[in-house]
Amino acid sequence: MVSAVPDDALPRRFGDYLLFDKIGEGGMARIYLGRTKTELGGERLLVVKQILPTLSSSEQFSRALIDEAKLAAQLSHGNIVQVSDLGREDDMLYIAMEYVEGFDLRELLRECSKNKVPLPVEFSLLIVTETLRGLDFAHRRRDDDGKPLGLVHRDVSPSNVLVSFEGEVKLCDFGIARAMGADSDLPDETIQGKAGYMSPEAANGEALDGRGDVFAIGIILWELLAGRRLYKGDGGPSLEQARQAQVPELPTRGYPDEENLHALVMKALSKDVGARYESAQAMLRDLEAYISTAGLVASPLKFGEWLMEHFGAEIIEKRRARERAAKAIEAGPLLRVEPTGTPPPVTSTVHPPAASVRPATRGNSAGGAPPWVYLVVVLLVAAAAAAFMLTPS
Ligand SMILES: Nc1ncnc2c1ncn2[C@@H]1O[C@H](COP(=O)(O)OP(=O)(O)OP(=O)(O)O)[C@@H](O)[C@H]1O
Ligand SMILES: [Mg+2]
Repeated sequence: MVSAVPDDALPRRFGDYLLFDKIGEGGMARIYLGRTKTELGGERLLVVKQILPTLSSSEQFSRALIDEAKLAAQLSHGNIVQVSDLGREDDMLYIAMEYVEGFDLRELLRECSKNKVPLPVEFSLLIVTETLRGLDFAHRRRDDDGKPLGLVHRDVSPSNVLVSFEGEVKLCDFGIARAMGADSDLPDETIQGKAGYMSPEAANGEALDGRGDVFAIGIILWELLAGRRLYKGDGGPSLEQARQAQVPELPTRGYPDEENLHALVMKALSKDVGARYESAQAMLRDLEAYISTAGLVASPLKFGEWLMEHFGAEIIEKRRARERAAKAIEAGPLLRVEPTGTPPPVTSTVHPPAASVRPATRGNSAGGAPPWVYLVVVLLVAAAAAAFMLTPS
């Protein structure tokens, strides 16, 4: 029997949201799938990112995150995950955003290697061009007075590139890394953990502009073409590797015009910021030109079909698991958690399904047999006693 609802019990309410499935956990947050009511009485599925208490309790971090998330919420573009809400609930900061049903790029690559299905180069190039489109849009944003907002993602990495089962590519977590940088008391591992896709200037703690994001997407493209991580090391990529930015030549795979493609990647990965692409747009332009002349054009539609063909079973299983979790909420009325032993002063109310939870019954809430059973027992005892006394000895 349950005497208290654990913090992580699902489904549970969290502000305006009903969280029903945990879909991820990163270095700074827990990610839940939730539902909320829309103004016209409908329901909307979305992702609620709960910032871990260690970060939520830092005033510096909270202020910076709120500033960044407000800017990110203004970004409305097909290649950027739309942020819909930001707030504080139960002493925890949270960000609500569009749910992208699919894989993040890290997961997709893991699935590809597990199933021994190579990701075709045209889809690798599609993932990178679509991400660049999102970056370019954000980098060029201006405020109402026409002043550039200077938005930089700062954490472009495979886990922040989401690939939907429809073949769309969306970048998430815009600007959140800046908030992390605002808190100088953060543990070193948090920063170190990001070294794998960091530009040398970021690793040196220098001022950053959009070219830092260009370097990061350059690493992603290098890795997609090489089929391996750029920076390796026993404890994972190190800040020192990011500072040195040594990029080995890419292996030859026999793609059309391959030297052009390699030159493009190396330009994005130039250690000298001045020699790098000056913007995401400049890189996008060169990459689109290469794709077109090399005949490696792909569309989200084709990518979606390829995903379905190779990972259809996983896709359907993911959908079913989500539907099962959602159905558990629809299954009926709220259930009451009933404690055993000494009753605590308050009973908690949760939704199904939680272990050891059973439907609340009217009356008789202390458990045990109904009153008529006691009455029958008393009558039987009395009758037996009377019979005993009347029996002649
Ligand atoms: N909007 C979303 N829709 C669907 N899945 C999401 C969404 N946002 C995040 N996820 C999933 O949750 C995982 C964890 O996200 P989170 O941002 O907490 O960690 P991370 O991306 O691994 O690390 P970090 O963002 O700190 O570099 C993601 O990798 C992704 O698989
Ligand atoms: Mg993330």
